[in-house]
Order: sequence, then C-alpha cells, then structure tokens
Amino acid sequence: MSKLWGGRFTKETNKLVEEFTASITFDQHLAAEDIQGSLAHVQMLVESAIISAEDGEQIKAGLTKILAQLHAGLLEFDVAHEDIHMNVEKLLLAEIGPVGGKLHTGRSRNDQVATDMHLYLKNKISGLIALLVAVQNSIVTQAKNNLETIMPGYTHLQRAQPISFAHHLMAYFWMLQRDKERLHDSLARVDILPLGAGALAGTTFPIDRQRTAELLGFSQVYPNSMDAVSDRDFIIEFLSNASILMMHVSRLSEELIIWSSQEFQFVELDDSFCTGSSIMPQKKNPDVPELLRAKTGRVYGNLMGLLTVLKGLPLAYNKDMQEDKEGMFDTVKTVEGTLALLAPLLATMQVRTDKMAKATREDYSNATDIADYLSKKGLPFRDAHAVIGQIVLYAIKEQKYLLDLKLDEYQRFSTLFCDDIYEILQPLATVKSRNSYGGTAPAQITEQIKLAEQKLDARL
Ligand code: ARG
Repeated sequence: MSKLWGGRFTKETNKLVEEFTASITFDQHLAAEDIQGSLAHVQMLVESAIISAEDGEQIKAGLTKILAQLHAGLLEFDVAHEDIHMNVEKLLLAEIGPVGGKLHTGRSRNDQVATDMHLYLKNKISGLIALLVAVQNSIVTQAKNNLETIMPGYTHLQRAQPISFAHHLMAYFWMLQRDKERLHDSLARVDILPLGAGALAGTTFPIDRQRTAELLGFSQVYPNSMDAVSDRDFIIEFLSNASILMMHVSRLSEELIIWSSQEFQFVELDDSFCTGSSIMPQKKNPDVPELLRAKTGRVYGNLMGLLTVLKGLPLAYNKDMQEDKEGMFDTVKTVEGTLALLAPLLATMQVRTDKMAKATREDYSNATDIADYLSKKGLPFRDAHAVIGQIVLYAIKEQKYLLDLKLDEYQRFSTLFCDDIYEILQPLATVKSRNSYGGTAPAQITEQIKLAEQKLDARL
C-alpha cells in the first residue's frame, strides 16, 4: 500500500520499522476528534476561497460518511498508514477519489495531532469534573448523616483529639474541590487551537485560524506556530492534576482500608464492593480501595514518562512526541474508573458509630481539653500541659481513663479542678467545644457543608 509521503522514497519501509513507528494501534482513540478537526478545516478552506465549494462539499460528505462508519464500529485501520491522520485520509481518498487530497491543504500532521489532543482532553476533562462532583456529593451526604458521630482524630496515627466523622470526611471534600478547581483552571490552556500552525512555520495559504477556532469551539489560537506544534504542557498539566487527585484518592483509600480492618472496625464497606479469599472463608477484602491506592502509581508514572520524553526536545515537532498519547489515554481511563467507583463506594459504606464511640471512650484523646480547662482558670497553658501530662501518666499506671479518675485524684494535681471537669471530658462535649471557625464542632461543620453545597450548586 503506497505511503502518503512515499514520493521521495525508493524502497519499501522495513516491516519492523513500520510497526515500530506506527501509532494507529493507540491513536485510533482520536478518530472522532481527527474527523471533527478536518471538517472544520475544510469548511475554513472553502470560506477562505482556498478550495472550491464543490470540492469542499465532497470532502465533507466523505468525512461525514467515515464518521458514521466509525460510530457504527465499521472502520478498519491499517498499520501501513502509520497513524490516525493518514488512515482517515486514505479512507477519504478511497471514498471520494483524488479530490480528497485537497483536505491536507495548508496543514500538517503536526498541527493536526496537537489539535486532536486538545479536542480530546477538553471533552474528557469536562467529563472527569462531572464524575468528581458525584464523589463530592457522596461525601456531603455521608457527612450530613454523621455530624455527631464521634471518633478519635489522629496525628502520627496516634489518638490525638476527638473529632466528628463528618469533619474527617469533609476534609476530603475540600481536597477534591481543589482538584476540581485545578481541572477547571487547566481548561483555559487546553482551550486553544494549534491548527493552522502548519508543520512549524505557518502556511503560504491565506487561512483563517480564528474561523477554524470558532468552528471547533476554541476560544483562542496559539499566537506562535512553533509553540503550537511543540507544546504538550496542557497534557503534562492534566497528568499532574490527575496525579494530585489520585494522591488524594489514595490517602482516602488508605483510611478506608485501615478503618475497615478488624482492629478499627470504624466502617464496613458494602459487600458488593468487596471480594473474598479463595482459601480463607472468613475474609472480606477491601480490594477496591487497595486498587485505587495502587493505580495512583501508574498515573504518577505517566506524568514522569511524559516529562522525561519532553525534557530534551529541540523545537519544533519530534517523533518522540508521539509517546504523549498512551499515558494520557491510560490516565483518563484510570481516573474515570476511579471516580466512578469511589462515589458508590462511599455512598454505600456503613459507618460503625458504636465502634467509633467505644474507641473514643477508651483513650486519652480528651487530654487537651483538661489542659484548656486549667488554662481557662488562669494557669498558663504550658504549666497546664505539664500537669495533665502527669495526670495521664498516673492514669495509665492506674489503668484508668481520664473520665474514670475521681475528683480527689484530679485535685491532687491541681486545686483548680472542680466537678465540672466531667462534663468537659465527655467526647461529644469535647467535639462541640471546638467551635472555632473551621473546627470540628457540629455547628462549624454545618457551616462548612453549607459552603460546600454553595460551591456545588454554583458548579464551582
Ligand atoms: N502520529 C504522530 C504523532 O502522534 C502524528 C504527527 C506526525 N508528524 C510527523 N511529522 N511525523 O505525533
């Protein structure tokens, strides 16, 4: 099968080279975008009087037919035609004859492939934002149901201070909110058209790049043709945003795994989201969060891969850049799959309020509250901290928790202690008392959720 670029060659391409250099096995994912870009290009060529209206009509009819065949799953691609751009062009030539050769007037595969990638990502990022919102909604619903679900809060994975489970969950809402804002923000740099840059230097034809941009729904065109065909920042930015997002998902997954362990039993993942063991009949494994945690690795890998591909490239296009695609497709698929699972995983999760409450009763995480109590009675906080340290040491030795100590035991350490200490030490009271802005008190969380819902309603 003759190559579209075969004119200056005297030999057939080596078969191994043909396979090695071809991208059609993966860039066929861009078929719809490629045809969409060509339809706009040909329309612009006609409007700019670069090709005749009749030729334009024939080309558009051919492309439209090919698009319909694509949607019907009828298209067959050939590795001999290397990539999606030349495959589509070959199909067009077969469909309408030599007039199809006019489609490539005033453009190059270099600006064409970049355009396809911009169109693809623009569409995919919007889809990912919608999936992310579904996860945020699951979080808000769980949070609303668990405002007064008290659990130990941790630092260093050691019990620190009692918190509301809703507060813990909402922390992930805000991480995902930043991820969403980053994706939104990145759209400004995806929403820019490279087409019309030609191979690197522009074209001798009187093209109208603004018109092509308008037809394709881009709000800007690249002002520098060399930058237009060399830029892959928009993909790197996507991979980097996806990496941060997956890092958040991985942290949440880690907590779900810990919380659903026999040791914690804070949550119970729904049976439909867990799997069993082929040998140990009692097992219910949290495979989904484990895999979400692991898939973070491949997304980081895709980011590092592309950063490395680009770091030494001179301007303008180099074949190295063909390696930008698989990591991007893989990342889109991974993040789509991740978010689609995470929303129902969180929505169906059972919260073991009893286990959380028991854990909170059986620890010293209310120690700060007694320190605050003494310092509110006039003792400098640093001295109060030292006094409570001694009380905790004493309680551990006596094998008691802070609520079990008698008033006279407290008064041995400070005469400032009165009966009201027992009220202050109740887990729910400690949580309610952390009523500073953004704190864990249910009143604050209610405000926080209000703000979160405002963002969701305003599609921010
Ligand atoms: N398949 C190529 C890629 O993905 C398309 C651009 C090819 N351009 C070229 N000058 N060889 O990057």
